[in-house]
Amino acid sequence: MKEFCDLSDLRAGEIEDLLELASELERNPQVQALQGKVLALLFLNPSLRTLTSFQASMTRLGGGTFVVSPEMSIHGLETRSGIVMDGTAAEHIREAVPVIASYADVIGIRALASRENLETDLSDSAFTELRSLCDIPLINLESAIRHPCQALADWKTLNDLGIPAKGGKLVFSWVYHPEALPLAVPADTLYMAAKRGMDVTLLRPDEFAMPELLINRARTAAQQGGGRITETSDRDEGMESADVLYAGSWAATQNYGNRIADQKARNNHENWCVDETWFRPAKKSCRFMHCLPVRRGVEVEDDILDGLRNLVVTQARNRMWAQMAILKKLLAD
Ligand code: CP
Repeated sequence: MKEFCDLSDLRAGEIEDLLELASELERNPQVQALQGKVLALLFLNPSLRTLTSFQASMTRLGGGTFVVSPEMSIHGLETRSGIVMDGTAAEHIREAVPVIASYADVIGIRALASRENLETDLSDSAFTELRSLCDIPLINLESAIRHPCQALADWKTLNDLGIPAKGGKLVFSWVYHPEALPLAVPADTLYMAAKRGMDVTLLRPDEFAMPELLINRARTAAQQGGGRITETSDRDEGMESADVLYAGSWAATQNYGNRIADQKARNNHENWCVDETWFRPAKKSCRFMHCLPVRRGVEVEDDILDGLRNLVVTQARNRMWAQMAILKKLLAD
């Protein structure tokens, strides 16, 4: 493995190897496996879990990390191409990335969707451009339409809980959020569950149908993995016999980049907040997943997050084991 940027770059067998290694590292610490190795973390957008779990992952393997983000006391960072830099930004990302990479053995970059232009975000061009500036192994810490580290950790969470790959049902539901959030987690969760061979339902209001490109990507994975993808706006139909409800939010496709129109569309669905009634048609054992951060009382009610269905902290902890496996595959093998 030369980089970890997109789950679709990996064959099913390679993903199984990573998941086995993650579990092995969870059981048996390898505190010197990456001694002397350095991970550079460039965050162009905020993070709690990705930042801290990567620092913990590298430390547990005996390596070191350094972090760069625009909030730190660095020169203002320009990310746009072909711009005359006569504003406040004194440093361009085209110089900054190769410099940072030259100090490290592996680099992770987070560059989220701009959420201004759908075509641009679907092309993942901002991350692709940064990828071209790295001559060391690169890890995608979340780009416009991909969050492969989250998806790998979620795959491990499903495996650990014994939720069947074949025949297990995962519902990914849009939930209300005051902001138009990126497509990366919804798109990669659909892709992951489909590739795992699950019966996947995308539950969303009609205005929040996902872009065809992302649905088709998941459908292709479902064909290869033996799963299937269905879409509905009917909550009871969608939740029928579900093993897992995974909640998230994203921008309305038709109104992408138009904040006022998007807000108008989402304000009609403020009641899309997960509570116990959602689980009535599901299996009794149905669990709740969310990538975090989550807004309590807006996306999901407290009793779900404080109750037995909840898996969000397990998911976040599995980020660490999954990423340790990624780092070890990239640096030690
Ligand atoms: N789930 C996730 O990536 O969390 P952060 O945005 O806090 O890193």
